[in-house]
Amino acid sequence: MEESINPSKFVAKHILDIPRSGIRAFFAIAATMDDAISLGIGEPDFVTPWHIREAAIFALEKGKTSYTDNLGLKRLRNEISKYVEKNYSVSYNPENEIVVGVGVSEILDCTLRAIINPGDMIMYHEPCFVSYSPSISLAGGIPVAIKTRPEDNFSFNIDEMKAAWKPGCKAILINFPTNPTGGVASRKQLEQLAAFVKEKDMLVISDEIYSELTYEGGHTSIASLPGMRDRSVFIHGFSKAFAMTGFRIGYACAPKAIIEGIMKIHQYEVMCAPIISQECAIEALKNGKSDMEKMRDQYMRRRDFIVRRFNEMGLKCHLPSGTFYAFPNVSAFGMNSMEFAKCVLNSAKVAIVPGSAFGPSGEGYARASFSTSLQNLIKAADRMEAALDKLSAGK
Ligand SMILES: Cc1ncc(COP(=O)(O)O)c(C=O)c1O
Repeated sequence: MEESINPSKFVAKHILDIPRSGIRAFFAIAATMDDAISLGIGEPDFVTPWHIREAAIFALEKGKTSYTDNLGLKRLRNEISKYVEKNYSVSYNPENEIVVGVGVSEILDCTLRAIINPGDMIMYHEPCFVSYSPSISLAGGIPVAIKTRPEDNFSFNIDEMKAAWKPGCKAILINFPTNPTGGVASRKQLEQLAAFVKEKDMLVISDEIYSELTYEGGHTSIASLPGMRDRSVFIHGFSKAFAMTGFRIGYACAPKAIIEGIMKIHQYEVMCAPIISQECAIEALKNGKSDMEKMRDQYMRRRDFIVRRFNEMGLKCHLPSGTFYAFPNVSAFGMNSMEFAKCVLNSAKVAIVPGSAFGPSGEGYARASFSTSLQNLIKAADRMEAALDKLSAGK
């Protein structure tokens, strides 16, 4: 259909310049196919545990249908404070050092907007979650990407991080375990990063949304390292580990001045996160641990299976230490990651996400989510293997 308006006149230039998420574009194609198995989604296949859903029903029954404090329900902030102290060894005052928002997505956006002056640079490791670079740009900042590699377990190399630094770098955005690579940073690496951040007088924004889904070695929050609490914005949410994507609850913990900045944007943008979802988040923090652990065990079994199968079919794949994503190298088949993903979709009816969707450093890889049943994974792996065998035979 022809455009009814002139976009360059009525849509802001910096918005026109930002590409759409590569994931969405790719899945529009996959959705049109019958019998395709999707390893593309970035959300749990489990339905939210019943006691958490039931908390929504109770909230409605009790007539909890109002706005809440802009920072979020005080009872929820109290629970978050206890949870973060117990599991991440860093303490925040629920009065003024915690803000609850509409998912990590909104919290991250508000955080970036709260700290960035036009032209400030924000460093981050890549491949990374699709929103990082656009969110930095939309906030008026300049994204500075640092490539990560399987040799480093898709963590960062501190020397490359130091080499990428320039005057004007204000903060480093990290995400361990990482979407899409499953990379984790060791405590030692985080200590090196902390020393660098202090030396350059920067902040760290740490998106720890997958931290409960860590399979080996435990999780360390950079905010808990000596001297880092007041240089960190600890960001977390309920979407992944508690299977609560649709509830849209995330939060930031940080020094009072930063929370005040985030809160002002959040207040004028959305007022508060939905009260019913906040009630459910309280229930998740109080009683959700065993359900979360059961889901994590399932993910781990699926991870071991799919990573083994990828390696067997010639897709070199490191073992992700966290998240529910495998990130195999697909370059052996002589195609770029988009061509490879299209080929697998057409010939095996399996949808995976081209690595290039996660930034230029993702080229040569693909993301396959194992947040789907083991039966689906078995079927997907068999289909992919048969298609790739055929491809190799035809060469
Ligand atoms: C690293 C990372 N951060 C943030 C988000 C967004 O989470 P939420 O559902 O809390 O907005 C995602 C979702 O895929 C993610 O992978």
